[in-house]
Amino acid sequence: MDMSDPLKILEEEHRVIEKAIGVLKRMVETMKLGVNPAVDDLRNLVDFLRTFADRCHHGKEEDVLFHVLEERGVPRSGGPIEVMLQEHEQGRSLVKGMLQAIEAIEKGDKHGSIVFSEKALSYAELLENHISKEDNVLYPIGRNVLSDEDMERLLDDFEKIEEEKVGPGVHEKYHRIVEELSLKYR
Ligand SMILES: [Fe+2]
Ligand SMILES: [Fe+2]
Repeated sequence: MDMSDPLKILEEEHRVIEKAIGVLKRMVETMKLGVNPAVDDLRNLVDFLRTFADRCHHGKEEDVLFHVLEERGVPRSGGPIEVMLQEHEQGRSLVKGMLQAIEAIEKGDKHGSIVFSEKALSYAELLENHISKEDNVLYPIGRNVLSDEDMERLLDDFEKIEEEKVGPGVHEKYHRIVEELSLKYR
């Protein structure tokens, strides 16, 4: 990975998130065949979505990238940044819904897996479109308007987020979780 290009770092994180979404969709296929995946696997995947995809990746976008883009003239409201923020919120509420569904599954509630499947498929569709908008629209805007100094600042601030919000070694742990689950649900 090119660690000197902050937008490249975000794009690489998108590839990991897409891999997790692939696992999520295959978990739903398994459920539709009447077999519930192990609750630990469901929990680990949703934990990935909450920590890696939301706290870490969306954190870098919301707390750093969007602010710098705004400083360079990309408006916060009425444009792509506003849409991205709304979609992050929608993702958060779907993740909450998945967690509640997992609790229902654990209690033996038959509707749990139906609710999980609905929330999971909505999340998958939302995030796939979201990622494609960022890769193809927002980040290219960033490459046009951000200076070399801005890029340096993004790199520094991303590192701070990794240390303060996520903690050392946590990124690697989540990469491993997705790798393991993608071998199990293929
Ligand atoms: Fe985003
Ligand atoms: Fe993103």
